[in-house]
Amino acid sequence: MYNDIDFNNKNILITGGAGFIGSNLAAYFQTNFPESRVVIFDCFRSNEVFSNGNLKSYGHYKNLIGFTGKIICGNINNKSDLALLSEFKFDYIFHNAAISDTRVYDQEVVMRTNVNSFFDLLEIAKKNLSVLIYASSAAAYGSLISPQTEGKEAPENPYGYSKYIMDQIATQYSYENPNLTIVGLRFFNVYGPREFYKEMTSSMVLQLGHQILNGKAPRLFHNSDSIFRDFIYIDDVLQALIKSCKPKKNGTYNVGTGISRSFQDIADILQKELQTNLKTEYFKNPYDDYQMHTQANILSSQKNLGFEPQFSLEQGIKSYIPEIKRLHGTSLA
Ligand SMILES: NC(=O)c1ccc[n+]([C@@H]2O[C@H](COP(=O)([O-])OP(=O)(O)OC[C@H]3O[C@@H](n4cnc5c(N)ncnc54)[C@H](O)[C@@H]3O)[C@@H](O)[C@H]2O)c1
Repeated sequence: MYNDIDFNNKNILITGGAGFIGSNLAAYFQTNFPESRVVIFDCFRSNEVFSNGNLKSYGHYKNLIGFTGKIICGNINNKSDLALLSEFKFDYIFHNAAISDTRVYDQEVVMRTNVNSFFDLLEIAKKNLSVLIYASSAAAYGSLISPQTEGKEAPENPYGYSKYIMDQIATQYSYENPNLTIVGLRFFNVYGPREFYKEMTSSMVLQLGHQILNGKAPRLFHNSDSIFRDFIYIDDVLQALIKSCKPKKNGTYNVGTGISRSFQDIADILQKELQTNLKTEYFKNPYDDYQMHTQANILSSQKNLGFEPQFSLEQGIKSYIPEIKRLHGTSLA
């Protein structure tokens, strides 16, 4: 338990609940608060792809096997789908549904999906007086130098811009509705169970883990020992989500460990855990808008949410290894 909130008998909406973070949160409630009433709203995956060849959405039923709450298949872009939520009175809303693929460059579709729908979710929260926690992203910082701190943003792709605009909308909405609890969480690089179905957009921890289990050398961009990220394990993200339900004040908060590690570190830790000694294969980084160093400044999250990350990269990967092994070679269908 991350705080003293009793979620039993509470109505909880998780948009994007068939995805990575949302399905972990649903499982968390079911395990720890069996009387909580969780409703998942997600469009699930279709076979449609964006121009980059990636799927339009990654929600997958396999993330929800064992989940006993309600599931609504709906699109956040579609008002008649959202109207299906009007029969509930939510105490808590966790808004995770979004185009989560940072490499979708069709600005209109990213803005429509991530930003326009946010107004609808805010209205639902206002009507129900729900606590609203929504997913923002470290992509709002673009290539700003580390440590990235709330209040200074410079997004460099449509995805990061959409999240940055959501944060501004939330700030304004909080100001206009001081009785509401609204918290935005800027997740850094999250990894852990239930990300498998994000396919090529899943974390490098999973992708490199499966390359190594295939007996192949882990493939990294040139100079990967100097490309740093703040990698955060899913359990620490759950901690942030739960603690955000009782913030000292509304706001947008970083969710990272506060420590940056290299992609080379991931490959090395995985090789140690999987007891392999493969060479690393390097190739040219094809991206211009590539963040070279992220490291969350978590002072504000510590102070206002009581957030204290528990998992080092070594500990997170160690916890994740059995799941990486279990999923190896399984179907994405
Ligand atoms: N995983 C990370 O490292 C990370 C980092 C920063 C921010 N985030 C944000 O956290 C949230 C959750 O990310 P995730 O990693 O779980 O991604 P995910 O893709 O696994 O989950 C997103 C879910 O939203 C659903 N969805 C997409 N478009 C939808 C639509 N139009 N209507 C209804 N549902 C729709 C998808 O089916 C999917 O289940 C997203 O908002 C993402 O932008 C994630």
